Amino acid sequence: MVAPFDLARARLETRGCNELIHFNNAGAALPPAPVADALYGYLREEELQGGYEVMDRRSAELEHFYTAGARLLNCTPGEIAFADSATRAWNAAFYALDLRPGERILAGSAEYGSNLVALLHRAKCRGVEIVWVPDDEHGQIDVAALEKLIDPRVKLICLTQVPSGNGLVNPAAAVGRIARGAGIPLLLDACQALGQLPVDVQQIGCDLLCGTGRKFLRGPRGSGLLYVRRALLERLEPAELNHHAADLLSTETTGCAPTPGASNAGSAAAPASSPWGWPSTMPWGGASRSSPSASGVWRLNCAGSSPPSTA
Ligand SMILES: Cc1ncc(COP(=O)(O)O)c(C=O)c1O
Repeated sequence: MVAPFDLARARLETRGCNELIHFNNAGAALPPAPVADALYGYLREEELQGGYEVMDRRSAELEHFYTAGARLLNCTPGEIAFADSATRAWNAAFYALDLRPGERILAGSAEYGSNLVALLHRAKCRGVEIVWVPDDEHGQIDVAALEKLIDPRVKLICLTQVPSGNGLVNPAAAVGRIARGAGIPLLLDACQALGQLPVDVQQIGCDLLCGTGRKFLRGPRGSGLLYVRRALLERLEPAELNHHAADLLSTETTGCAPTPGASNAGSAAAPASSPWGWPSTMPWGGASRSSPSASGVWRLNCAGSSPPSTA
């Protein structure tokens, strides 16, 4: 959901506008005063009161990250995870898919560079085949060609909606329709689209989406989000876990409780996040003990491992 953009207010609220004309929103936009002031204020409170104490007191505001993210994308808060960058969010989704040798990924030619590296890494290490979908005469992904490439070997479609280096806008919803029709997950990099275009995951029909805070959303650097459609969660296995993402119940049995936080017992206010997110005690973290993200949909096998430290 995107509210009408109030240019006059945006200018008024952007102190940097008084100093210069800044065109680099695709890199990192000038943050408006409410964002910058929230950051300065939060860090000042941490300096004077301590990080955990401030996080506890501000937990409702931090939790707002999930509801705001859900409103932005038209999904539920439990389908949103905080990430410290879009790259991290994309990788978390991508590496959680259990792709096998001989299986295929269809990818557009405008895929973001870091995504390309991960795709090639998967091809090298897992024997997964990457098939590049050709562009149409406008330079957008050729939707008809994409449709022809669908077969039972295809397990994922990757698309960058708006690339970083030019004005291309890929037809995400048309790709989503094909993906949905074939029952293949669509992983959408919406990094340059968020804040610039309406991005509605229901309308697009994507299952996984990454975005960053610092571009057209005008948030702080070091913030990003991952959307995972709830129906897909059970098919994913996070590539990495830690005690912010799992409740360690026993070092001898399988099973870690899906709600975050318990393994932090003893550290009064240690942050926690979803299995898909990252904890942060910073104002842009949004992580809290009661994060509902992705709860109840995964298990960690702890059997046979040496007892981990919960210190
Ligand atoms: C299309 C696209 N995807 C991903 C990224 C990476 O964003 P981040 O630096 O938050 O990982 C960028 C950044 O320029 C981008 O343009």
